[in-house]
Amino acid sequence: MIKEIYPPRQLNGVLRVPGDRSITVRAILLGSIADGTSVVREYLDCDDTGASVNIMRELGIDIHEERDNGSMLRIHGASMHGLHAARQELFCNSSGTTMRLLAGLMAGQTFASTIDGSEQLRNRPMRRIVEPLTRMGALISSTSDHAPLYIKPANLHGIDYLMQVASAQVKSALLLAALYADGDVIIRETATTRDHTERMLSAMGVAVRYGHQNGDGSSHAALQASEESRLLPQSSGQTPVVDRQISIPSRQLPGALHPLDMTVPADFSSAAFFLVAAILHPHSRLELPGTGLNPTRTGLLEALRAMGAVVTVQNSGLQGGEPVGDLVPVTSRLRAMEVSGALTSLMIDEFPIFAVAATQAVGTTVVRNAEELRVKESNRIDDLVVELRKMGAHIEATSDGFIVAGPATLRGAVVDAHGDHRMAMSLAVAGLIAEGKTTLTGAECVSKTYPGFFDDLAAISASSDK
Ligand code: S3P
Repeated sequence: MIKEIYPPRQLNGVLRVPGDRSITVRAILLGSIADGTSVVREYLDCDDTGASVNIMRELGIDIHEERDNGSMLRIHGASMHGLHAARQELFCNSSGTTMRLLAGLMAGQTFASTIDGSEQLRNRPMRRIVEPLTRMGALISSTSDHAPLYIKPANLHGIDYLMQVASAQVKSALLLAALYADGDVIIRETATTRDHTERMLSAMGVAVRYGHQNGDGSSHAALQASEESRLLPQSSGQTPVVDRQISIPSRQLPGALHPLDMTVPADFSSAAFFLVAAILHPHSRLELPGTGLNPTRTGLLEALRAMGAVVTVQNSGLQGGEPVGDLVPVTSRLRAMEVSGALTSLMIDEFPIFAVAATQAVGTTVVRNAEELRVKESNRIDDLVVELRKMGAHIEATSDGFIVAGPATLRGAVVDAHGDHRMAMSLAVAGLIAEGKTTLTGAECVSKTYPGFFDDLAAISASSDK
């Protein structure tokens, strides 16, 4: 699909972006093993969540989708030991979240399963989950640690694990496997990542415990840290500092997960495109109500505010155990900044749109410690640099991030999404502030997380000069 984008005269209006993808996928998986019927309102209906629904149906779960008065999922949970073997492979399409979390769930079942996905997903690294799950006793085979994953029934044990990459998907795979383990599962994160799984498990009655401590804090942690520090990409031979520790006590509740009754917050990562669009466009004010503001997700907001963006938050509160609020961004002037360290994980999905923002900031913006961007749906360092340069941006790639010199005048060009939903939406936003016409090829990939993106974009830029 090709989309043509022109700069609108103004951006204005109220837009509730669709529900959070990470939370919806977790609700589908966890609701399926709850003891009773879960109700999930305002869920996200997209390719990633559709794959998750199909898979849980394959495993014998009855799931109803209602779309009449707002969207709602009814998931008839079969309890922790009520899933049935599927007749075919479990196909995750391009959803890395579905595949990695599902692997944790399948590892503890009494039947075998095969998990596969699209070519794009087959190219993404799975060693990060295979290695710790195997240490818990899981029987997983694959070719060079890539999908398809073949999982056999196994008895899972506890683990005390120091995370090797900052990844909520890995952490969540271990937390799901922990439900079936016969020992305590302790996960030590060196950088805090999104905590939706922990929050949802707590709401379902699981005793999730948190701690903050250094790797030297307990002898076991220090030992494991020194054993594993050579595996850490940024290892300097020092014991890594553990930022957060999450633990689940051993096999605490066979069959006792309470069903969910929740409204899914609007996805901060989807709101991010409109947040940046409003800040960069010279005549704009948007209201983005009910947006998820979980602090493990809002690093972009922190960064933009530090750069001078004017964004107010109204009506903040809690919804389904998650912080939410109405974001109100207006046209702002930005100064360059450096993003590195812990902040990187808190905005991991937002770097493509952050790069667009950086093209308009005064000074040199530097992103470091973001090598994970190379193994997302596309290589979000190299591909982003190629596409934004076509529009006149002064951006260069580094091994673990990028450097942008701003402000630059962007010009419309023919740009490609590289099969990556967040690249597509970021380039579309760049088109809103570029001179002339931007032609975006491969735009159909937005359906991965935001099928109505271009309609919503048209709705807030109704008075455009076409
Ligand atoms: C996600 C975690 C992040 C993020 C992805 C969704 C999740 O991936 O990039 O879009 O729902 O847990 P990693 O865990 O690989 O960092």
